[in-house]
Amino acid sequence: MQILVVGSGGREHALAWKLLQSQQVEKVICAPGNGGTAILSGCQNLPLGVDDFEGIAKFAHKEGINLVVVGPEVPLAQGITDYLNAQGIMVFGPNKAGAQIEASKAWAKSLMQEAGIPTAKAAVFTQAKDAKLYVKAQGAPIVVKADGLAAGKGVIVATTVTEAEAAIEAIFQGQFGSAGNFVVIEECLTGQEVSVLALTDGLTIRPLLPAQDHKRIGEGDTGDNTGGMGAYAPAPIATPELMARVQQEVLSRAIATLRNRGIDYRGVLYAGLMITPVGEFKVLEFNCRFGDPETQVILPLLETPLEELMLACVQQRLQEMPPLAWKEGTAVTVVAASGGYPGAYAKGKTITGISSAEAQGAIVFHAGTKLQAQQLLTDGGRVLNVTGVGANFQQALAQAYRGIECIQFQGMYYRRDIGHRVTGK
Ligand code: AMP
Ligand code: GLY
Repeated sequence: MQILVVGSGGREHALAWKLLQSQQVEKVICAPGNGGTAILSGCQNLPLGVDDFEGIAKFAHKEGINLVVVGPEVPLAQGITDYLNAQGIMVFGPNKAGAQIEASKAWAKSLMQEAGIPTAKAAVFTQAKDAKLYVKAQGAPIVVKADGLAAGKGVIVATTVTEAEAAIEAIFQGQFGSAGNFVVIEECLTGQEVSVLALTDGLTIRPLLPAQDHKRIGEGDTGDNTGGMGAYAPAPIATPELMARVQQEVLSRAIATLRNRGIDYRGVLYAGLMITPVGEFKVLEFNCRFGDPETQVILPLLETPLEELMLACVQQRLQEMPPLAWKEGTAVTVVAASGGYPGAYAKGKTITGISSAEAQGAIVFHAGTKLQAQQLLTDGGRVLNVTGVGANFQQALAQAYRGIECIQFQGMYYRRDIGHRVTGK
């Protein structure tokens, strides 16, 4: 099989790496890929943007690509699956209608309410004036969300009413682009977040191991939100009992309600959950794709060939697949970021030490890197994901940190407390 992976982050490097472990997969093409996918054996980069549907279709036909796997949400929300399917190309990832579950928070909220999925109390507004009145009535803390895709920046957890009002103003003034036509105002939940990703063919749902991300830039979960600074799986807070409830009360209800809305959802359904201090859970958001960096800890533990699962989703025969096989143990990933991220940061810094990290047993997935004249350079905010896999959490954690300590680039920053909820430090 030849598979084309769309995207350029750590998630896509991990997808390509996992797909290539299967005997059935001869070649993976990454469009556009990064410095890691450029040097991964069996993988090749293709310099096409993730929104170049026509270019991707032409290449897929010319090269006889058997499956296109879409990493990021933006092309899914723009309908890449519909476009390629119409040309007879198989795609792993939901269609445009299904991707609304991530692309519109108002739409997702109404789906959750209709399905009876536990979620934060919320109201949707099209006018700043009404939104502000509501915020005044509810009081702070309160969460203000821009409706559409805003690259993780459209959520403001406001600790005061004034902050919430400023967020509403900013959203309606278009600071989040077209994400600013609606605003969702939500009750502020506290607790621990867990990411439950599941594979689905629109009928059957197979949850993957639960993972915990670390969204804030600073240690102790402080400072600005990022794409994710580190993760581990499985997350012990998501006990088998909790996972069984999530399957029933969240995933099954979501898929059934999507079907009621005429949507045949095939791909990854990702539920971002808040586990409240009393052990209840509520859905914070749905995503229509693999998480980043969750994928970088889930896939190293997966033993079932990934392309078989993906094809089963696309061809709606997931039910025939045997239960997913997982390695015993834990995986931890730590993100090496460019200094200044998630604000402004420099690019083009030389990266050294990756082979030493690998010699220590770590798996290094590239995110924002590029290969230029045989030199590996930084090319984004999140640069590398250094992953450790071990028989238990402590071993995996130690391996990830031993690995990242080998790596250097100017301005490199990483959190030293990934997994603090497990270690208690
Ligand atoms: P979302 O894009 O909806 O996942 O939001 C991004 C982040 O904002 C989440 O991972 C949470 O950390 C935070 N967040 C979102 N909704 C809420 C909420 N209702 N209460 C508290 N924090 C939230
Ligand atoms: N790690 C969070 C996300 O992928 O949305």
